[in-house]
Amino acid sequence: MTSPALGVCYYPEHWPEDWWERDAARMAEIGIKWVRIGEFSWSRLEPRPGQLDFSWARRAMDVLGRHGLKIIFGTPTATPPRWMVDKHPDMLAVDREGRRKGFGSRRHYDFSHLPYREEAARITRLIAEALGDHPALAGWQTDNEYGCHGTTYSYSPAARDGFQRWLAEKYGTIDALNAAWGNVFWSMEYDRFDQVELPNLLVAEAAPAHDLDFRRYSSAQVAAFNKVQYDILKARRPDLPVIHNFMSRYTEFDHFDVAETLDVASWDSYPLGHLATSNEPEEVKRLYLRQGDPDNAAFHHDLYRSVGHGRMWIMEQQPGPVNWADFNPDPLPGMARLWAWEAFAHGAEVVSYFRWRQAPFAQEQMHAGLLQPDSAPAPAYHEAQQVAAEIKALKLGGVAGKARVALVYDYQSEWAWDIQPQAKGFSHGAHVRALYAAFRKHGVDIDILPPSTQSLAGYDIVAIPALFAWNDALRAALADFDGHVLIGPRTGSKTQDFAIPPRLGPDLPSNLLDVKVIRVDSTDPALEVEVRGSGTVHHWRERIETRAQVVIEDAEGWPVLLHQGKLYYLGASGSKALIQRVVDHLIAEADLPTLALPAGVRCRTRDGLRIYVNYGAGNALLTPAADEADYVLGGPDMPGAGVTVARLATAG
Ligand code: GAL
Repeated sequence: MTSPALGVCYYPEHWPEDWWERDAARMAEIGIKWVRIGEFSWSRLEPRPGQLDFSWARRAMDVLGRHGLKIIFGTPTATPPRWMVDKHPDMLAVDREGRRKGFGSRRHYDFSHLPYREEAARITRLIAEALGDHPALAGWQTDNEYGCHGTTYSYSPAARDGFQRWLAEKYGTIDALNAAWGNVFWSMEYDRFDQVELPNLLVAEAAPAHDLDFRRYSSAQVAAFNKVQYDILKARRPDLPVIHNFMSRYTEFDHFDVAETLDVASWDSYPLGHLATSNEPEEVKRLYLRQGDPDNAAFHHDLYRSVGHGRMWIMEQQPGPVNWADFNPDPLPGMARLWAWEAFAHGAEVVSYFRWRQAPFAQEQMHAGLLQPDSAPAPAYHEAQQVAAEIKALKLGGVAGKARVALVYDYQSEWAWDIQPQAKGFSHGAHVRALYAAFRKHGVDIDILPPSTQSLAGYDIVAIPALFAWNDALRAALADFDGHVLIGPRTGSKTQDFAIPPRLGPDLPSNLLDVKVIRVDSTDPALEVEVRGSGTVHHWRERIETRAQVVIEDAEGWPVLLHQGKLYYLGASGSKALIQRVVDHLIAEADLPTLALPAGVRCRTRDGLRIYVNYGAGNALLTPAADEADYVLGGPDMPGAGVTVARLATAG
């Protein structure tokens, strides 16, 4: 395992060739080790169909390589050139309203369009052949941000035909599909697979199983698209990692499935843009306007470390204001450094700033880079330089160790509750993130697990929040697990075919958890119900028949938290205060060590180092923990946007 390093995204095709040398020298000078190039350059690699020009790319790689920089080359399949659209007019995706999308920006392709998939394979193969032997090449990126700009779903004839084939494969007979979807309801029964339409432009909503299958199908197309490139790149250079750059809070395809053909999962972290475009409460937005949500980046680091089989990078790190939110604040001085440190704390191998120099032209001309358009350093240039020097001095190594708490995260549950929220705004992700933040408030490290997890061994606490349907592997893993478990509302309340199972509720053997949901109540979040003690219930609560013991109940006597031995069931969703209370109870029951963190400060441990970051704008004073030997960076008195690293006594 190499020690973590900084990188940068660079577009040699945007700049005069005689700038490249100086750019590369400056990158190396400030301690950058990795450069990502290529991912939007198709019109320069193949200006006309079949007329290839890889010479400039090789020259750029030569220059970067001469300065000791390692290159990630991105396949340019997110930006097919104009001639491609002339060649395949029907490669353009169709939106939910049935309108064909146009050329003139990016991601203008349909995952279901098989001739375009072949074109993507062709350019990938050509790039692999032409550049695969370059000595500076150290990895590949496939495409760019699958799904960005709402591009996972297409309602095109290509998607319809693909969906029908996929359904025929899945169900075998049309009777099986009719039964699985419940098509006797409203006389929706089909005679043949080629009668099945996509679930858009219907009079009322589609059957939920129809919608869910369409999402599964669409997700499978993203995975298939990625696999084509992965296989080609691996065949050419089995030794180099293939990486994709995922996004924040993006759930339209199953990232665990796509990553079956990836060596590393990376993601693009834009903390200010992500907070501005999120549905976080106004007071959070105001408080962290220039810092970003203190838990969102960390959550994604942990999620993508899991998606990437333990390997995670930040392929794009916000360096200054972005251009794509309604308002684009300037980060607090120090944040470009803090974000990188936090990513390293969570196991990032590389943090790569987006981008080297701000482009003076086109869509992103207001998006900051490490350099201004005139090549003068922007503030993040100096912060990147500082981080590079700090990680070098600390000789950070190894990986993020196993945490003691794990949360199960499931993309299909994101889709299920989006299809049938029953309470507007009820979302799987919101439940996972609320629990994540509540554990993190105590400095507890967290791992994220896929729903296909085979074993939960080694964890003290595992939470399964709002999982729509059980699978056998997880049920078996749970039966074998002797730690504390928290099962969240609606878990197991549907079958894989999106129907109500014979027994409503978490459906576990009753010696494990005897909980039967007999009625559900969903309300407008404004109509909160007080919880005895503290906290409120909103959106969702369940009337439960049980022999389990009630730990918390609401003011109207509905049970909120129940337990039977070490198994806990949370039958409601509610306020942050309620979730914190539930988590605090579990932490105490499991006797988990915690840290006393000042407001705004977060912490994660890596390689015997405890890395504290202060998302607050003002000073924060740490209470040194008994197991810390000394500070190797910063100290207990943290300035706003400060970073402090303490060495654990056991680390020697
Ligand atoms: C990402 C994308 C980059 C750039 C960046 C701007 O979504 O991958 O190409 O557009 O956003 O913040």
